[in-house]
Amino acid sequence: MRLDKLLSNMGYGSRKEVKKLLKMKAVSIDGVVAKDVSLHVDPDKQSVTVLGERVIYQEYIYLMMNKPAGVISATEDLYDQTVIDLLDPVHAHFNPFPVGRLDKDTEGFLLITNDGVLAHNLLSPKKHVPKVYYARVDGRVVIEDIEQFRQGVILDDGYHTKPGKLTIINSGEISEIELEISEGKFHQVKRMFEAVGKKVIYLKRLSMGNLLLDDRLKLGEYRELTAEEIESIR
Ligand code: URA
Repeated sequence: MRLDKLLSNMGYGSRKEVKKLLKMKAVSIDGVVAKDVSLHVDPDKQSVTVLGERVIYQEYIYLMMNKPAGVISATEDLYDQTVIDLLDPVHAHFNPFPVGRLDKDTEGFLLITNDGVLAHNLLSPKKHVPKVYYARVDGRVVIEDIEQFRQGVILDDGYHTKPGKLTIINSGEISEIELEISEGKFHQVKRMFEAVGKKVIYLKRLSMGNLLLDDRLKLGEYRELTAEEIESIR
């Protein structure tokens, strides 16, 4: 990889700025001051330093966010704050994107990465990656709903959903439930409840595949996935 691309990818500024670093003799490769930005380097085999500090090359970034309500699951938006706007520049410069969408008013687990292959695999309908949601529902959720969801329900556009695993935590005028589904149709959880005559008034995603929302993350906070977590979703 070209030296300027490597340093730019790792957050040392634009290629122009990287050129300035080289002019200042701030960059060395295997201890020798680098003079040419177009030089090809292998970050696994060669030691690149900037002002004496070793540059550890990382191509991909994997972040778990506890998405707050009011923020859009997109990379940019004309009117609203996006989940990418919540990232520190040291993470944002990897140009990550959210894997799938949560509605603006939905909270909870959101994976943000720049690994397109992994994102594609997690979202592929063929992989049936389970997603678990917690919801508060206006209306009494009853045993019959569990059976209906088990068989799949018919959404407003006529689509017959795959089975959902519904667990009632609390049944009352306002019910609390958990729902596991393996699809990601637009507004799916809300529309599944509409199909049985009830309205979701609060929705939070708890997990995606093997990844559970870290309960130490406050709304709007995020952290990098651990190596084990990344391995578990490959
Ligand atoms: N289902 C919904 O209705 N909304 C979400 O944000 C996620 C799943």
